[in-house]
Amino acid sequence: MLLALETSCDETACAILEWRAEGGVRVLAAEVASQAALHEATGGVVPEVASRQHLRDLRPLLDLTLRAAGVRLEQVAAFAATIGPGLAGALMIGVAAAKGLAIGFGRPFVGVNHLEGHLLSPFFDEGDELRPATGLVVSGGHTLLIDVAGFRQYQRLGGTLDDAAGEAFDKVAKLLGLPYPGGPVVDRLARTGRDDAFAFPRSLLHEAHHDFSFSGLKTAVRYLLPKIDAADECVVADVCASFQQAVVEVLVEKTVRAARASGRRRLAISGGVSLNSGLRAAFAARCAATGLELCLTPPSLCTDNAAMIGHVGLRLQRHGLSTPLTEDIDPNLRLAYAA
Ligand code: KG4
Ligand code: ZN
Repeated sequence: MLLALETSCDETACAILEWRAEGGVRVLAAEVASQAALHEATGGVVPEVASRQHLRDLRPLLDLTLRAAGVRLEQVAAFAATIGPGLAGALMIGVAAAKGLAIGFGRPFVGVNHLEGHLLSPFFDEGDELRPATGLVVSGGHTLLIDVAGFRQYQRLGGTLDDAAGEAFDKVAKLLGLPYPGGPVVDRLARTGRDDAFAFPRSLLHEAHHDFSFSGLKTAVRYLLPKIDAADECVVADVCASFQQAVVEVLVEKTVRAARASGRRRLAISGGVSLNSGLRAAFAARCAATGLELCLTPPSLCTDNAAMIGHVGLRLQRHGLSTPLTEDIDPNLRLAYAA
């Protein structure tokens, strides 16, 4: 049984999981204390404010998770935490707590890469051997295309050259005067809007490489604003639907193309933006039409959570891997790519 902590950005999260006899993981409890309301006032995350809130939330959240799982700390066999990438001060809170527990109870510490947590989050039910896939991680901080040949065999195919997809959602929402985080709000408003009302750019769609660019899209929305009635709810819904369609089209198209280029037959879609209803529907339709297998992350695991960290932690342990207590956090940690 493993206990995992996640404090890389603005969610404090704790989960307790175990490896199932038939393979894959069982989540005994997973709790999240979101700081979204706290950061709404500033329209984004202020790192020090986030760190202080992690400190306040962590202990009660740990107790809550243990109670929900019906587990005592003495029963936990290993303590995992996100070691990067993320906000330095925020990462230190979870890592220091997990290391302290590991020392106190004489158990191993397992440092987990947040991106690997997202990347593998559609695979909770798979055994030790992961079947190959093309992974798309779309979150507030990252937009990455990764070839997954197996566990720990990752190759970066492409990523964003400027804003992450979630960042684009959040910035466009801010321009439209919508609350933070903008992704869920834009998603909701887009459902009533026309996705062909405004012609927004599909940057790099026809380039052969697997990189993305979303900052032009945000600029296009900014230039459009003075020309429309942003107080009209129908117009705002049209902007949301057209913007979302532009993001979704590029993500789906380039992910399918990357899978073809690397000879993969299945897609693994993860990260906060993979909650987007338009994105999920578009991937489902495209995979049904092309015969690709689609692995979407379950909604409860899309945004930052500790279950996805514990999942990778358990797989690392299955491979005999733990992390020395001397290992530090790394705010810019990359995925461990295959040679
Ligand atoms: O994975 P995540 O919780 O944090 C990072 O690791 O960055 O992703 C948060 C991002 C935010 O930018 C948020 O606006 C976006 O995911 N998001 C969405 C939706 N739900 C969350 N974006 C589009 N549609 C959604 N339904
Ligand atoms: Zn994340």
